Amino acid sequence: MRHEVDFLVVGSGIAGLSFALKVAEYGKVCILTKGDAAEGSTRYAQGGIAAVMYDSDSFDKHIQDTLVAGDGICDREVVEMTIREAPERIRELVKYGVNFDLDRKGDKFDLHREGGHSEFRILHHKDNTGEEIERGLLEAARSHPNITIKERQFAIDIITQHHLGQRVTKHTPGIECYGVYALDCDTNRIDTYLARVTLLATGGMGNVYSTTTTPVISTGDGVAMVHRARGVLSDLEFMQFHPTSLYNPAEKPAFLITEAMRGAGAVLKDRDGKEFMQKYDSRLSLAPRDIVARAIDNEMKLSGKDYLYLDARGIGKKHLIEGFPTIYAKCLSIGIDITRDMIPIRPAAHYQCGGIKVDRRGESSIRHLYAAGECSCTGLHGGNRLASNSLLEAVVYAHNAAMDAIEQVKHISFKTEVPDWNAEGMVLNEEMVLITQTKRELQEIMWNYVGIVRSDLRLQRAFDRLNLIFRETEDLYNRSVLTEPLSELRNLIACAYLIIKMARARRQNVGLHYSLDLVNPE
Ligand code: FAD
Ligand code: SIN
Repeated sequence: MRHEVDFLVVGSGIAGLSFALKVAEYGKVCILTKGDAAEGSTRYAQGGIAAVMYDSDSFDKHIQDTLVAGDGICDREVVEMTIREAPERIRELVKYGVNFDLDRKGDKFDLHREGGHSEFRILHHKDNTGEEIERGLLEAARSHPNITIKERQFAIDIITQHHLGQRVTKHTPGIECYGVYALDCDTNRIDTYLARVTLLATGGMGNVYSTTTTPVISTGDGVAMVHRARGVLSDLEFMQFHPTSLYNPAEKPAFLITEAMRGAGAVLKDRDGKEFMQKYDSRLSLAPRDIVARAIDNEMKLSGKDYLYLDARGIGKKHLIEGFPTIYAKCLSIGIDITRDMIPIRPAAHYQCGGIKVDRRGESSIRHLYAAGECSCTGLHGGNRLASNSLLEAVVYAHNAAMDAIEQVKHISFKTEVPDWNAEGMVLNEEMVLITQTKRELQEIMWNYVGIVRSDLRLQRAFDRLNLIFRETEDLYNRSVLTEPLSELRNLIACAYLIIKMARARRQNVGLHYSLDLVNPE
């Protein structure tokens, strides 16, 4: 089936929905989302969204904190623009119906503090901020007459000149996007969506790793699509590992213990109940995430243990139960009373700082193709994202992309000569084990060789192993009817390849990229 829409949005998290709500005043919007509309990293965000809302804080301080966390390689102009725009974007979220907690008097936002922040500046809704943001935006989008949300529609590839029979390489000037091919997961039919403007808001790629806080939908689809379309990608070596996911090995994704808990006074301890962060950084448990995750990784390796502890007991029973109700209930459900017991934790893959390279307007190197949210790389995060800057980046860039797309859309027509997807001669692959086992292998390779601490030998090993997996999976792809699991596996392999390639090219330890064979910058 063929469809024509003015604005095509792939993804229904904070980035996709914010963009859709803005452009909907100027044309028809179709949102494709591969699962239920509410599913994505956004709904799991706990800590909140960073913004300077009052005079007690300053833009300069937030800018400085972001630059320090980014380890000297952020794009300063992007940092300044994003942080100065933040209050306006927060006010818009509130207008769309999102509730943030207020202080006791009820006239100001209640602000939390997280690692790397010099001030209390995290707006939040208890410890389930993302759920509240997703609820508010989704309700607003669902009630907009110009927005259609199509669930269980899996975008496979963006359509470019390549699909018109032209040879496209990464050196081809003027690659254009005409829309996407998408698999209807219920009927297995592949539809052609032609669009004047397309936005990728497909989220992260945490499932490249065996332990991740990200939901199962985070398989790097947008990044892999742009890679296949020969677009520009950047900074993928900077995978952020969150220091404190709940140690509950059978659970996927790993449940997050928000950094805001350390902001409220919780401290990291080893298995003997002793604090250890003084060995690593003067900011102790509130040092930036890369430093804390590496410290935990080192302590775990030295002691040979699978987990360490976060001790939140000092926060006090009332504050813990009222301020962190989701975490309190979750831990209690597995027999841990956080008001009395220490919480077993370990690091987990959490956030991809790199992605589809976009300019200040949110446009990628492929014309008429925008990207926003975690799948994009704006230059804000540099080598390491500051906590709670990612929801912020998503709303700021969704706004910038929307403003530009509204201008561009008037001059873009549909490319009606695009052919439909050709699935002739393909057979249905019935051996799911080929896909599930390969995915597991990939995730273990990445966790063991391309994790928090890397080395030249580990990266080489990962690359060699990945090569075999890549060839086997391409062979399967060339023979099989396309399914969602197969497509996701190909995308994960592409993302893993890109992470390794960029990690090998980075010859200095910076931000989240840390190799035993490299020196630290002066
Ligand atoms: P997502 O919310 O992940 O949405 C991606 C969307 O794309 C989904 O709708 C998905 O179905 C769709 N999609 C993907 N691929 C396809 C495809 N092929 N076809 C169709 N649809 C597709 N950041 C903060 O700033 N503050 C926090 O407190 C915070 N806490 C976090 C806690 C957790 C547990 C996690 C995992 C992340 C947290 N982050 C936080 C990071 C932040 O939540 C994410 O970076 C952000 O929500 C990403 O939003 P997004 O719109 O880019 O993507
Ligand atoms: C957290 O709540 O610790 C996560 C915040 C983030 O990822 O920015």
